[in-house]
Amino acid sequence: MSSHDNRRTFAIISHPDAGKTTLTEKLLLQGGAIHLAGQVKARGAARRARSDWMKIEQQRGISVTSSVMTFERQGITFNLLDTPGHEDFSEDTYRTLTAVDSAIMVIDAAKGIEPQTRKLFEVCRLRSVPIITFINKVDREGRACFDLMDEVADMLALDVCPMSWPVGMGGVFEGIYDLETGKVSRPEGPSREFLGKVDQDVTLPTEVADEMELAQGGYPEFSLEDYRAGNLTPVYFGSALKNFGVAELIDAIARYAPPPRPQPSEQGTIEPSKDEVTGFIFKVQANMDPMHRDRIAFMRLVSGTFKRGMKLTPSGLGKPIAVHSPILFFAQDREIADSAEPGDIIGIPNHGTLRVGDTLSERNDVRFTGLPNFAPEILRRVQLKDPTKTKQLRKALDDLSEEGVIQVFYPEIGSQWIVGVVGQLQLEVLISRLEAEYKVEAMLEPAPFDTARWLKGTDAALKTFADFNKMNLARDRDGDPVFMARSAWDVSYQQERNPDLAFSATKER
Ligand code: G4P
Repeated sequence: MSSHDNRRTFAIISHPDAGKTTLTEKLLLQGGAIHLAGQVKARGAARRARSDWMKIEQQRGISVTSSVMTFERQGITFNLLDTPGHEDFSEDTYRTLTAVDSAIMVIDAAKGIEPQTRKLFEVCRLRSVPIITFINKVDREGRACFDLMDEVADMLALDVCPMSWPVGMGGVFEGIYDLETGKVSRPEGPSREFLGKVDQDVTLPTEVADEMELAQGGYPEFSLEDYRAGNLTPVYFGSALKNFGVAELIDAIARYAPPPRPQPSEQGTIEPSKDEVTGFIFKVQANMDPMHRDRIAFMRLVSGTFKRGMKLTPSGLGKPIAVHSPILFFAQDREIADSAEPGDIIGIPNHGTLRVGDTLSERNDVRFTGLPNFAPEILRRVQLKDPTKTKQLRKALDDLSEEGVIQVFYPEIGSQWIVGVVGQLQLEVLISRLEAEYKVEAMLEPAPFDTARWLKGTDAALKTFADFNKMNLARDRDGDPVFMARSAWDVSYQQERNPDLAFSATKER
């Protein structure tokens, strides 16, 4: 096994309340990374206190920022990338999914597939990220298992393959039947938490035995190839709260989830086994400490063995920087990293030199592709309360769009800048950070646009389009042309009239 084959870099996707936080705690607990369940939230609270704008999180009791948690188990290093657990998610969440090799999809057994599960699933599908499904809360009364299986298959157009099956649910919950080994694990003790004992010789009541037979026979067999291609999801049942089925889930990631995958670049596919150290920034978090205006850029290592002090060239900068104090994110503490392997995430402190989407490489000869901007779903005009602060506003909007908090569009005509987001919450973060960090008071007003599309085509085609649509043309912060559309209909109408132009809902950098 080469050093990176034992890495599993993954995220958990779910709708709020499905049990992601609880499952995260239990995964870390099993991995020996923390000793008391509940610390994920406690740590979260401590972290939230660090910065002013994060008060929004406190007030609403949610987590806006993602973090990285690393734990080890049986020789495998797991990197769990947390995604914000709120309905109103942001581009952070999308981008984090570009840095993982696989995902666990958590579904509440009583609710089935919910809207955010579905949205996040679609982002995974865009990149063929393989998914293991965990149907949670079987200790409570839920929907019929066959129903849930069918829903996953139908709504997500995936093959489903049950790997385990609950024996009863809620009050009559008896345990989990492992469909591969035929063993049943049963809850124990006063709180009926799983203590690790496996009953080997169980005789199932006929009714239950019939159900297991149906479960076993009624679905496609597990195929590693289909799972890794993103066409099939193995399904596990369990209870995060009772720590039931969690060990099986970790084992599944260790056994089936892909090790670090090759990444697409302008220079072709970069294999993790390549000697040169390369990686890309998928997230920048600013002002973790309000006393210092520092930022942490999160880099996913794609190839090579990173050593502390190494010089890497960011694609946005053109000259090398020495990475003296990289950070590895262990669950308990942030530890200074001495070395890291493909699949690992490194935090690089910087003063704004590193941007989301940047490639870092030893020889400055690679540019990763596929780290997209997503078409904003909400567009707002930014109105200054004090018009003399235009310069500060421009700087703030540029900074915050670099961080991926918002997207900014500068119209070709007029001076009213437009910000775009994929979730309402990003707007609150924007206003709050403008005030706290840039001393700029601003208001947001409805914009006459509904969505935006990046334009790609020959200069001639772009010019023709611009001549007729000046009012609807803007530049993003990189100066690239964007069509500001009034409606989805507007987009298809223009697309029809301008067959030489591509109207793209995502922009790859
Ligand atoms: P999230 O991060 O996906 O939003 O969900 P979280 O883990 O916070 O869980 C949401 C609620 O569901 C919590 O209850 C949690 O205890 C409960 N829960 C999670 N997993 C299970 C499970 O396997 N079985 C059962 N019965 N409940 C589960 P809460 O009352 O909202 O919060 P708390 O006061 O318990 O923290």
